[in-house]
Amino acid sequence: MSEKLDYLITGATGQLGALVLEQLRAAAPEARIGALVRRAEAAAALEAQGLVVRVASYDDPAALEAAFAGVDKLLLISSSEVGKRAEQHSNVIAAAEKAGVGFIAYTSILNATSSPLTVLPGEHVATEEALAASGLTYALLRNGWYSENYVMGAGAALEHGALIGAAGDGRIASAARADFAAAAVAVLTGETPARGTVYELAGDDSYTLTEFAAALSEIAGKEIPYVNMSEADYAAALEGAGLPGPVAHMLADSDNGAAQGGLYSDDKTLSQLIGRPTTPWRQTLKAGVKLDA
Ligand SMILES: NC(=O)c1ccc[n+]([C@@H]2O[C@H](COP(=O)([O-])OP(=O)(O)OC[C@H]3O[C@@H](n4cnc5c(N)ncnc54)[C@H](OP(=O)(O)O)[C@@H]3O)[C@@H](O)[C@H]2O)c1
Repeated sequence: MSEKLDYLITGATGQLGALVLEQLRAAAPEARIGALVRRAEAAAALEAQGLVVRVASYDDPAALEAAFAGVDKLLLISSSEVGKRAEQHSNVIAAAEKAGVGFIAYTSILNATSSPLTVLPGEHVATEEALAASGLTYALLRNGWYSENYVMGAGAALEHGALIGAAGDGRIASAARADFAAAAVAVLTGETPARGTVYELAGDDSYTLTEFAAALSEIAGKEIPYVNMSEADYAAALEGAGLPGPVAHMLADSDNGAAQGGLYSDDKTLSQLIGRPTTPWRQTLKAGVKLDA
């Protein structure tokens, strides 16, 4: 367990983690790279890629400390278990400190401390505060919205003949997951940033949901209007479509935050960090939309 690792990436079985690992292997082919998973059965596929797998859940402080032994730079990809994340992340931070990790980068949320969203930012702010209270050298990757989030809803919009939401005329400066992965790799492989460095990361271009629906209409060859709803009606519609209540509430709150500019930033740190323009949202939409839906 004490084998030295240049990098350890948490959330390695997730979508962002997979992209980070792929890009990190390409950027640092000589490095010893570790992947943290919570399910031991996920190890074989990662080991086959030449990665060193360590197993620990964010819920298990002792296993985390053992998993972090010998790690120089750690990427904490935020947990997907909304509601449990503040405690889980503080377990990771405490274990990283005990294990003597040299640097930790954390995937937070765009404008975490001033965001108008009310559901998601709280746990990210708590994690940022736990990092600030630790003795660790750390950086905050405040990730904006993935373009893939709205692309995921495009199938339902095609099926129902309308895109529904509660984002009003709010502009959304999203970027592809692969862009955020590239930013994480740039920060991990570059010179270690000063303690507490904050990167506000957003896409170079932006759109309203009306513009998104127009682009979807063009791709599909049929008119898909955007229908704006109140936050409560949108949450009810999502729940009616089968989403669990808390997820529907979180998505409707995020749209309501977007209406107030919460998913927008004209900060170009992301493209500067990755040394190229961010992936155009239309490209992500075109690649991700299933026209036979
Ligand atoms: N910026 C955005 O638009 C946006 C959108 C969605 C999510 N996010 C956040 O960004 C994170 C990464 O995004 P993603 O698309 O890669 O999400 P994802 O595909 O759902 O991956 C989440 C990862 O977290 C791991 N995980 C969850 N609970 C854990 C625990 N208790 N202990 C250890 N690992 C645990 C999962 O492991 P398993 O494979 O074992 O489940 C998985 O590897 C998400 O978790 C979420 O916090 C951001």
